[in-house]
Amino acid sequence: MSMTGSDRYDRSERLMWAGRAIAYAGSYARLCAHAVPQLLDAAEVGPGSWLLDVGTGPGTVAAAACARGAKVTAVDAEPTMVDLAARAAPTADVRVAALPELPFSDGEFDAVTANFVLNHVGRPGLALTELRRVLRPGGCVGLTIWAVPPDAGQALLGRAIQAAGAVRPPHLPTGLAPEDDFPRDENGLSGLMNAAGLRDAVCETLRWNHRAGAEEWWSGPAAGIAFGGQMVQSQTPRVRAEIKRHFDHLSAEFADEDGVLTLPHAALLARARR
Ligand SMILES: C[S@@+](CC[C@H](N)C(=O)[O-])C[C@H]1O[C@@H](n2cnc3c(N)ncnc32)[C@H](O)[C@@H]1O
Repeated sequence: MSMTGSDRYDRSERLMWAGRAIAYAGSYARLCAHAVPQLLDAAEVGPGSWLLDVGTGPGTVAAAACARGAKVTAVDAEPTMVDLAARAAPTADVRVAALPELPFSDGEFDAVTANFVLNHVGRPGLALTELRRVLRPGGCVGLTIWAVPPDAGQALLGRAIQAAGAVRPPHLPTGLAPEDDFPRDENGLSGLMNAAGLRDAVCETLRWNHRAGAEEWWSGPAAGIAFGGQMVQSQTPRVRAEIKRHFDHLSAEFADEDGVLTLPHAALLARARR
């Protein structure tokens, strides 16, 4: 069978995350953790809820849900993430599994969460249909993704990459196939949830300032995390050094007197019911 564009996208995501759990945990995980309390509230996770956290990464959502007294199952496509999540949430059932096919029966969970995961799958609509399938009738799904256009802190690395004249390597996908893509705004995400058969979809924009040292903020891309990191790592040493030089220069816009960056971010938080 020939490989479709979305298969290629998913394969490139698998390679992108492979072996990078510790680097992610030391960089972007702290950024993504910001949304966790609101995400758990949106999915109505409380004592005794049966929760599935998909794309759990180092287990930030899973651990917070366990602390609320939920009974947690968590999955991630990347085995090194599963190892970290199992340590972060020792009472959770943590396994390797990948959207769009989850190894659970219909209606198993009261709640499903996916924190900054739907923006990493080749077929977001199909992924949502699968999240809906494993929810019990009336159960709640809570999701976050990055908003487009990005806020200034999110745009910093892209500006440095562009200023350095870096070119996208052929192995990195340009984006989703048009038939799989959707607008990364409140209407776009709630529309996708409705189209997946979910109901009462509501979406809001979260805005916050992430504070990080410049070297911590650089450590994610330097380790190849996410699309920007893959762009950095696939350049020649000369272009990589140029990106870093522009990054250092542009970072000054966000730095306080101690050199700590204040980076504005915007994300979409959505919830819906089965
Ligand atoms: C940006 S990280 C978010 C991790 C975590 N939810 C958090 O809040 O820090 C994206 C995660 O999604 C996982 N992932 C990407 N595609 C996936 C898929 N198709 N199925 C399951 N997990 C996936 C990655 O391995 C990675 O751990």
